[in-house]
Amino acid sequence: MAGHVASSYAVAHVPGDGVGPEVTEVARTCVDAVAARRGFAVRWRPYELGAKHYLATGEILPDAALAELRQADAVLLGAVGSPDVPPGVLERGLLLRLRAELDLYVNLRPSKLRAGVPNAVSSMKLSDLDLVIVRENTEGLYAGAGGTVHRGTEFETATEESLNTYAGVRRCVRYAAELAASRSGRLTLVHKTNVLGHAGRLWQRVSAEVAAEQGVQLSYAHVDAACLWLVDDPARFDVIVTDNLFGDILSDLGAALTGGLGLAPSGNLNPDRSGPSVFEPVHGSAPDIAGTGRANPAGAVLSAGLMLAHLGQPEAAADLDTAVSAVLAAGAPASTGEWEKALLDSLEGGS
Ligand code: IPM
Ligand code: MN
Repeated sequence: MAGHVASSYAVAHVPGDGVGPEVTEVARTCVDAVAARRGFAVRWRPYELGAKHYLATGEILPDAALAELRQADAVLLGAVGSPDVPPGVLERGLLLRLRAELDLYVNLRPSKLRAGVPNAVSSMKLSDLDLVIVRENTEGLYAGAGGTVHRGTEFETATEESLNTYAGVRRCVRYAAELAASRSGRLTLVHKTNVLGHAGRLWQRVSAEVAAEQGVQLSYAHVDAACLWLVDDPARFDVIVTDNLFGDILSDLGAALTGGLGLAPSGNLNPDRSGPSVFEPVHGSAPDIAGTGRANPAGAVLSAGLMLAHLGQPEAAADLDTAVSAVLAAGAPASTGEWEKALLDSLEGGS
């Protein structure tokens, strides 16, 4: 489609904590390099959100910051979290809140084996593992439903409820089916319908409906079997659609099989484009290596690539993907600085 392609984008940059600033700085530099080459510009707007800001001010995501983020064309996020903040505070208050407020109902997590990357299963060919996990990103067990009663007694009862709405499941499966149609035409629903029958039946019915509408071939795997097959026979998967928690877990497995979390990108998408989408590496803030110069920026660079694709710059996105592959094929650099240099060299070499 020959739509209008903008020549300049306002991107909110939320470097966050730990290695977040280090890896997104490299991603920014790479984006600027491909933008110059491809004839567009990115106006970066930095936002100080995350553990440091929270500890200094008590603010997690102030309304004013959220209002500004809503105006951006996209958000590039590094990582949030610190050992000084209790687990859950920033995850729920920042990451999950952004996913809900901006209606980022798809979490796109490609897993691709690249040449030069040591993988956990040595018998794998590159073509065996090139898949995309489409993770529902606003519902399921992440919706926050549940509670605790009789706290502190022997009868303390904690519940977590998985919310699955017809509309929510449908819009996610629809995105996945369209993606499958643009790739191999194969879509796999991953769930646990043999136990989680209520949600499972909804997912299965909706997936069958949507697959028929989009003309894609639908298969099904229980999540436990999907883990086994991802290791044993990943070629059977192309596009996987699954609920929020299963997608969270499967995408870490996908990352482990393709070189580790350092390489894994993600896009939290609002496919309806009623607001910006948020792109972040799958890895966290890695406080143990923060500041050592050893963080791998590839996950952040590939996330920036997903961002450029979403913004309508597929050639620039492909440039970043190709550069990461080229650097890996030549032997992965050990430091963030070497990564940056190698990526820029590869981008300048042009392919
Ligand atoms: C991820 C992370 C988050 C999630 C956490 C930090 C809330 O693990 O993006 O995969 O569970 O979605
Ligand atoms: Mn995760």
